[in-house]
Amino acid sequence: MLKVLLTSLLILVIQPVGDLLAQKSGDATLGTQKYSDYETPRTCGACHVDFYQQWLQMIMSQAYVHHWDEIEYFKLAIPHAEKDPKVAGVKAGCNGCHTPVAFLAGDVPPPKPEMNSRANEAVTCDVCHTIAGFEGDTPFNYNFISEPGRVKHGPRDGLVSPAHETKQSALFNTTEVCGVCHNEKSPYGVWVKATQLEWKAGPYAKEGVVCQDCHMPKSSGRVATMGKDFPDVRQHFFHGAHDPGKIRGAIELRIHPDTREVEPGLPVKFTVILYNTKAGHKIPTGSAEERMLWLHVEATDAKGNVYHLPVDKKGFTGEEYTIAANTLAYQDMGIPLGIPDFKGVQRDGVPAGDRIFRLPYLDPQGRMTIMQWNTASQAVDYRIGPRETKVETYTWQLPDTIAPGPVVVKATLNYQKLPTPIVDFLEVPPEEAEVIEMNSHQTQVTVVD
Ligand code: HEC
Ligand code: HEC
Ligand code: HEC
Ligand code: HEC
Ligand code: HEC
Repeated sequence: MLKVLLTSLLILVIQPVGDLLAQKSGDATLGTQKYSDYETPRTCGACHVDFYQQWLQMIMSQAYVHHWDEIEYFKLAIPHAEKDPKVAGVKAGCNGCHTPVAFLAGDVPPPKPEMNSRANEAVTCDVCHTIAGFEGDTPFNYNFISEPGRVKHGPRDGLVSPAHETKQSALFNTTEVCGVCHNEKSPYGVWVKATQLEWKAGPYAKEGVVCQDCHMPKSSGRVATMGKDFPDVRQHFFHGAHDPGKIRGAIELRIHPDTREVEPGLPVKFTVILYNTKAGHKIPTGSAEERMLWLHVEATDAKGNVYHLPVDKKGFTGEEYTIAANTLAYQDMGIPLGIPDFKGVQRDGVPAGDRIFRLPYLDPQGRMTIMQWNTASQAVDYRIGPRETKVETYTWQLPDTIAPGPVVVKATLNYQKLPTPIVDFLEVPPEEAEVIEMNSHQTQVTVVD
């Protein structure tokens, strides 16, 4: 009797896991569904009015039509996939995260954005709310299990809707539901997006602060117009790189000198301390192949002369990638663009000598690339981790001719999504190269005779 009871209990416990194991995820799901298996966001929007309006404004709803995504996919990724068997999978695979319904429908490549097809819907309500689990231990490369249909998965228990069934899913309050698209491995086996893994290794995971706490804040209201009132409705904000307000102040910084009175011809050392106070992952994270922060330090003397201070070298391996220089890079763009012996474009496009906080991605020839799928290795990871502090120094030999009186020294930390030289070269809309001032601080010393 007891044995029978235990066995049936065991079956009950194992059953859901077994169901999931039988289902496909990731590349194996290409072409396993139809567009019509998924409802449009507009359909959901009839009752979930606020979430729909928020969704229209989030970058995830633009993940296929956003102009830079279109350029990178059609001008670089597809031609590259057709020339190099090693990366052939990305022709379909980019869409596993950027427009999952098109991927699941086996539409490769989907019609261009101007065709106004359903591929344009990108990351929809129904994509996320029909995620039933993910395969394996680590979420990455769209390894989610999609179960389209009447059942919508969500965080709460027992909600009743006239349009669909609801199912409470613990997954929706975890970071794994994000990691399926926010962790990515290149065909060479390199982690080219690791936001969820960075989070997992950092302090917020230990405290139980998840992605949703910072990207989907809670407020009072309703989840559907005809529904109940709740004190803790998850707003669908998802602000990130495309929201200057989210970027500003994410890092705190302070600058101080080692002495307040200085003499012409003698050195003075400035220390800049930077603290990642707001992000649950490294800054920059995600598309780190194209994001960078740089620290610019300038002194202005009593006569208004401006001096640019280059950062002191620390001497670690790979440091050359973290100091802005007049160097060419991104030569591998020549492959998809069909330019033999392409010399590349300027690597940084920011003042030489400034410290850059970044993670350089390297192609199979060891050259810096922004084609993340062509990443065979990475150089030094010089980004600022969650609650990490970085210290930079600037030793400045005062010119003999400097004017006596006060000298103001200002440190400015800038953020950029995509380096200006790439934006110019690929004719990406200029807003993609917008420079956002994350923070700044200034200090003062006095030149005495
Ligand atoms: C089905 C795949 C998918 C899932 C699941 C997903 N994302 Fe995204 N997310 C994307 C894609 C693709 C982009 C990039 C859009 C672009 O720039 O083209 C993105 C962009 C973002 C951004 C950047 C916004 C900006 O302004 O640049 C944030 C923040 C974000 N997602 C947060 C989350 C969080 C939090 C979760 C989990 C609750 C999540 N995402 C789940 C695919 C996904
Ligand atoms: C005809 C109206 C209607 C439509 C259309 C509709 N829903 Fe709902 N939905 C509701 C109502 C009502 C609730 C329950 C609200 C409550 O009890 O306060 C609900 C609940 C949910 C929940 C559960 C939330 C939780 O906290 O667990 C999810 C998820 C959801 N809907 C997703 C969707 C998605 C995705 C679509 C489109 C594919 C959609 N809904 C279309 C009315 C609708
Ligand atoms: C990138 C994935 C993603 C997209 C796109 C998305 N959601 Fe959600 N949604 C979530 C997650 C994750 C939660 C639960 C967050 C939590 O409770 O921690 C959620 C929560 C909800 C809830 C319940 C809110 C609550 O507080 O109970 C509803 C209803 C809902 N979403 C509907 C929608 C609708 C409608 C759309 C499209 C207009 C949409 N979602 C788009 C991921 C997504
Ligand atoms: C403690 C708050 C916090 C947590 C937790 C958090 N984030 Fe963020 N996130 C931020 C802030 C602040 C920014 C803006 C600064 C930046 O770009 O990193 C940001 C930016 C982002 C960006 C855009 C980054 C870029 O430069 O392109 C993405 C994507 C993102 N978050 C996804 C996630 C995901 C996925 C998780 C969970 C694994 C997560 N975040 C957890 C606060 C948080
Ligand atoms: C595993 C999921 C995944 C795959 C596969 C993927 N991406 Fe993305 N992609 C994302 C996420 C998530 C972001 C946003 C990260 C961030 O904001 O930092 C993103 C960002 C981008 C951006 C940057 C948008 C911006 O605003 O700067 C471009 C362009 C892009 N992807 C193109 C591609 C191309 C082309 C491919 C195929 C070669 C591809 N992606 C494959 C998830 C994916």
